[in-house]
Amino acid sequence: MKKRILVTGGTGYIGSHTVVELQNSGYEVVIVDNLSNSSKDVVDQIEKVSGIRPAFEMVDCLDLAAMKGVFEKYPGIASIIHFAAYKAVGESVAKPLMYYRNNLVSLINVLELMPQCDVKGIVFSSSCTVYGQPDKENLPVTENAPVKMAECPYGNTKQINEEIVHDTVLSGSPIKAILLRYFNPIGAHPTALLGELPNGVPQNLIPYLTQTAIGIREQLSVFGDDYNTPDGSCIRDFINVVDLAKAHVIAIDRMLGDKQKSAVETFNIGTGVGLSVLGLIKAFEKSTGVKLNYKIVGRRAGDIEQVWADPTYANTELGWKAQETIEDTLRSAWNWQLKLREKGIN
Ligand code: NAD
Ligand code: WQD
Repeated sequence: MKKRILVTGGTGYIGSHTVVELQNSGYEVVIVDNLSNSSKDVVDQIEKVSGIRPAFEMVDCLDLAAMKGVFEKYPGIASIIHFAAYKAVGESVAKPLMYYRNNLVSLINVLELMPQCDVKGIVFSSSCTVYGQPDKENLPVTENAPVKMAECPYGNTKQINEEIVHDTVLSGSPIKAILLRYFNPIGAHPTALLGELPNGVPQNLIPYLTQTAIGIREQLSVFGDDYNTPDGSCIRDFINVVDLAKAHVIAIDRMLGDKQKSAVETFNIGTGVGLSVLGLIKAFEKSTGVKLNYKIVGRRAGDIEQVWADPTYANTELGWKAQETIEDTLRSAWNWQLKLREKGIN
């Protein structure tokens, strides 16, 4: 019998790609999403990609009774992947309580229900944001690099989430957890049936870049070329979303196969390659043949100068490694943008 996995936030950007990979690996998926940042059509898209329709429940993770109802309707859930959260840095500064409530209470509810419903494991979406700006000697960052004071409420929710998981396990709750710290997820499914659907004006680099390339935005602003980096622009570790999705399947396999070395494990999920913003623009132009209109402007407040992963622990211990090239990844983001235009969405 197929093992059943509950995926909260499963119609979102990373969640939808992960559902497909779980299905491809023989898992049965139940999605819970309140559609606050995604649409029900994604369930159809997932079915088109994998050939399997996941169960879908439009439920808010903040609603403890409704969540309990989901566990009762789908007995025998082996493990949970908890993606559901708000994720916009700027919005979190403007609406901190909304972020703290959603990102903290949704996790608390899931953790509270797990032992009651005999669910033994959780994979949690954490972020490289917990490292802030690592000291030079700590670059690339390993999982042991110090967690720095968060730059925004969103980042703080990820730090507190991690602590909540640790404290819950320490208290004797009979659960296991794997915390995945994602670096900068980008790109779309190679079929162009799934991808990122930003609401309004994108705040993140790739959607802004592809929207500029297609003519929705006039010009991409590059925030700063006077950083202490080789070309002066910021450096990030851009990780392909399908590679990232696969890391979740491997984490679930490990958890259910009883291979964890401790009840809570933490892994960096990045490529190990730091790429500058200007380098990424060049790679986009080269791989798509599309010329990008951009200009250098001042720094963006709160930006981290440079951060990229040391993924050695994930490579050796988890057995996961990023596979896709940056060129293929950027082409997938571009194809997704073209597909959105075809559908008249953006
Ligand atoms: P997303 O917004 O596309 O997906 C999140 C999904 O969760 C959405 O479909 C949304 O409708 C749903 N959701 C939000 N609150 C909910 C609630 N209370 N109940 C039910 N559903 C709810 O975001 P994403 O980029 O796919 O991110 C997924 C996770 O990964 C988030 O936890 C995010 O913080 C984390 N993460 C994202 C990035 C990134 O750059 N995208 C980087 C690091 C970590
Ligand atoms: C990347 C680089 C910008 C837009 C954020 C969150 C982080 C994580 C991922 C979840 C930076 C530059 C951007 C633009 C630009 N999310 N840029 N022009 O800031 O690394 O990370 O999303 O956990 O927590 O902080 O991602 O895509 O916004 O920016 O020059 O129009 O691109 O300055 O150097 P960031 P980003």
